[in-house]
Amino acid sequence: MTAPVLDWLSWLWNPARPVIEPASQRDVAALARIHGDSFHRGWGKTEFDAMLREPGTMIHRLRRGREVVGFAVSRQTADEAEILSIAVSARARGRGLSRALLMTHLGHLAGRGVRAVFLEVEENNQPACRLYRNAGFEVVGRRENYYNQGTATKLNALVMRRDLS
Ligand SMILES: CC(C)(COP(=O)(O)OP(=O)(O)OC[C@H]1O[C@@H](n2cnc3c(N)ncnc32)[C@H](O)[C@@H]1OP(=O)(O)O)[C@@H](O)C(=O)NCCC(=O)NCCS
Repeated sequence: MTAPVLDWLSWLWNPARPVIEPASQRDVAALARIHGDSFHRGWGKTEFDAMLREPGTMIHRLRRGREVVGFAVSRQTADEAEILSIAVSARARGRGLSRALLMTHLGHLAGRGVRAVFLEVEENNQPACRLYRNAGFEVVGRRENYYNQGTATKLNALVMRRDLS
């Protein structure tokens, strides 16, 4: 049996339930790895370390057993916040885990007095768009040629908003 198949089977047999909790400095390597695997321009450990020290920035981790398999990051300014990034490890995707992660994160933002949450998402990113629409976000704008993938093709961004009050 190949290593990826064994890895997948061990994931399936792992009885640990996913847990969502505040991230800490000990998570920066895992957060950077997941971000780097998920986005064209990955954030490194230094960037996550700096964000964890910023008072207005909140990061939740999604943990299964001892393994961090996802995160959500936002930045709050007064009573508004922006979701800066959300990602789930490739092998943990497609199981509805991101919804619990996002809703928990939004609950904490509401608890901190946030009344409106904004985000940007690449308009063809179907899993992310579905996640956000199902969580109550609505499209309030569109930015042409917003994402640079390092190729000639630039991708458009949707700006989405959800009120928390
Ligand atoms: C976006 C992301 C966090 C979603 O995490 P996830 O745990 O796999 O999401 P879910 O399993 O809850 O699926 C979310 C929705 O997308 C749908 N979906 C999942 N994979 C899909 C695919 N390949 N194509 C279309 N829809 C898909 C699901 O059916 C679900 O919609 P539904 O609830 O209406 O059925 C994950 O795909 C990811 O980390 N992507 C890379 C990073 C990223 O793009 N982040 C968002 C930046 S704005």
